[in-house]
Amino acid sequence: MKEHENLRVKPIQWHSEPDDDLIICRCEEITKGEIRKAVCDGMVTIKEIRRYLRTGMGLCQGQTCGKLVKGIVAKELGVKPDDLEPATGRAPVRPVEMQVLGKESEE
Ligand code: FES
Repeated sequence: MKEHENLRVKPIQWHSEPDDDLIICRCEEITKGEIRKAVCDGMVTIKEIRRYLRTGMGLCQGQTCGKLVKGIVAKELGVKPDDLEPATGRAPVRPVEMQVLGKESEE
């Protein structure tokens, strides 16, 4: 099963968990509880979670938190992590100083 509208069928009741304060995305300081709450609020794809919370949009571009976020979302939805489409990376994958780009245009 791949990511599709069927994931939206089951309403999820919010309940707090003891480790909800755990930071999952260090770059954007997003906690496990915020991710779980986003799923409860109807964000069921990794792309939606990313747009809603900015997970995976920090300096590491999700290399640190990507699998963790996917696992949390999958657990909340009751599906396997592989059933969720991965979020697509966007260039630049790391910060580039403007002087570096300026030197390229001079050459
Ligand atoms: S830890 Fe999430 S983007 Fe870096």
